[in-house]
Amino acid sequence: MLKILVCVSGGGTNLQAIIDGIKAGSITNTEIIGVISNNYGVKSLERAEKAGIPAEVISPKDFADRAQFNKAFLDKVKEMNPDLVVLAGFLVRIPEEFVKEYSNRIVNIHPSLIPSFCGVGYYGLKVHEKALERGVKITGATVHFVNEGMDEGPIIAQKPVAVEDGDTPEMLQKRVMEQAEWVILPKAIDDIANGRIEVVNNKVIRKA
Ligand code: GRF
Repeated sequence: MLKILVCVSGGGTNLQAIIDGIKAGSITNTEIIGVISNNYGVKSLERAEKAGIPAEVISPKDFADRAQFNKAFLDKVKEMNPDLVVLAGFLVRIPEEFVKEYSNRIVNIHPSLIPSFCGVGYYGLKVHEKALERGVKITGATVHFVNEGMDEGPIIAQKPVAVEDGDTPEMLQKRVMEQAEWVILPKAIDDIANGRIEVVNNKVIRKA
């Protein structure tokens, strides 16, 4: 059984897709052992509570500096001892020490086709604003393992989504979530839980 910790910041629709996937049996061998939010009062916390998942807030605002926040976050993760950490819209930069220690055991969902529209400053609605500004006709989402670089780890899954005439950033964000994020994140977790993938030379390959 793969024990996962899901880290969130806001709405938690990806968290919900994981909860629903486990319930429906499309994600197997997986248990959500906890949720950490870096924000108070967000819908993600309600979703966790409703599903009976222990959830807690670790906010940088509650600590004197980033080093103390990082320590509190790391201590909590270690106490929970998950097999996999899922960053589902987590907007805090993960401490480097933690990334090293959990090599190939942290996944992130990003709302574009990496390496387009990713890296510093590309988060939330901004990603979709930039895609519309550039006039791309196809965007999508990517699930990847997290390494020391920003959005640079081995890519596990990607799914394209069409940009439509008249799209606003909000419309595009919604379509990318519905058609890509909520599909590929649960599937990637199921693949990891069932030992279907491995990382070789910084690339994800499917086991024979
Ligand atoms: C998603 O678009 C995800 O790709 C990005 O942050 C958003 C989180 O949405 N990293 P939600 O909290 O899962 O609804």
